[in-house]
Amino acid sequence: MRLDQEEKDMLEGKYGKATQKSMEILTTLGDIFDAESMIDVHGVQIAGVSYVNLGEAGLEFLNEMAEDGKVRVLTTLNPAGMDRENWQALGIDKEFAKNQNRAIDAFAKMGIITTCSCTPYLIGNNPHYGQHIAWAESSAVCYSNSVIGARTNREGGPSALAAALTGKTPNYGYHLDQNRHGQVLVKVNAPIKGTDEFGVLGKIIGDKLVDLGKKIPYITGIPSATVEELKSFCASVATYGGTALFHMEDITPEYDKYPRPSEIVFKIDQNDLDIARVELIDKDVEIDFVSIGCPHASIHEIANLANLLKGKKVKKEFWITTARPTKKIADEAGYSKIIEDSGAKFAADTCCVVAPIKGRFKGIMVDSAKACYYGRAKNKFKVKIGSIEECVEEATK
Ligand code: F3S
Repeated sequence: MRLDQEEKDMLEGKYGKATQKSMEILTTLGDIFDAESMIDVHGVQIAGVSYVNLGEAGLEFLNEMAEDGKVRVLTTLNPAGMDRENWQALGIDKEFAKNQNRAIDAFAKMGIITTCSCTPYLIGNNPHYGQHIAWAESSAVCYSNSVIGARTNREGGPSALAAALTGKTPNYGYHLDQNRHGQVLVKVNAPIKGTDEFGVLGKIIGDKLVDLGKKIPYITGIPSATVEELKSFCASVATYGGTALFHMEDITPEYDKYPRPSEIVFKIDQNDLDIARVELIDKDVEIDFVSIGCPHASIHEIANLANLLKGKKVKKEFWITTARPTKKIADEAGYSKIIEDSGAKFAADTCCVVAPIKGRFKGIMVDSAKACYYGRAKNKFKVKIGSIEECVEEATK
């Protein structure tokens, strides 16, 4: 790889050990993927924050980097294993809380903003069109590449941290024009509305892309989509298809920048949506847990929930997972009080997937196809997908 003088100095240790280690990680990655050079990144988002995923080995690596490492660009974190303020009410044990706090403290020591969210673009870590970034959370990577038109590969925990400590990433993959073309034309011939339905659509497209061995769909037939619907779609298509970039005609900013694919075409109609939805509802599921906010709920979704829960009482464990800054806006707007009066709980900076709740509930109801996938695979729950309105109905009946 071609390195400039500053990058060479980093590699030689002139900026300290953590920066040197970071540059070693990045040059190794660049060599593997044939990158010709490094590029500057404007922001970083780091995943692998939950102590469930980190363990002691991960924590040791973080502490080593925190000895002399300091971030050079705006950096935020993916959800942690618990809400640092509300963990006791959410049933998290003391030992786990202690270890999770050790991890967050190591990140803080490096100058990372310790807001833990999978929707950094909703809370100020928000690149603009064409900017290079290094993000790790799959749904956020898909959103930034596709909906914002920023450029990032899907980073692992160590490579994202290395990008934060150097302000650099190797220039390959989705940073380059030639790797951003649509590969499969998807025609949607059914009305799609709501976060749950966009999640179902993401599952269908994701599954199909895996079969085809392709990654970048060009989707037609969607007349409009909200931020919330797109974030749900991104989470789902990234989970089921490993997709980090899609184009949606008349909706995403790069849809007409590259040639429209024409060789591989597949169509989705109402019947496909109905079948996929049934696949996201387990037989004999008994719901004792409802969770909204995968990816993390926007203030708009929280306002809607306050409206739906006003004057009602929930009869099941009900979490609203969101970023702490969004929760603070909800507090000021009075939404939090309405929601908490109903018995529902905020789980800020964490989520129903990364929290250590494996086996704690029998069945989870969500509006997210991604949460269905991990609810089954990771936490061993039975699952049911539904709209936000249906989730509230289930929780209050
Ligand atoms: Fe975010 Fe957790 Fe879903 S990290 S995308 S809320 S699984």
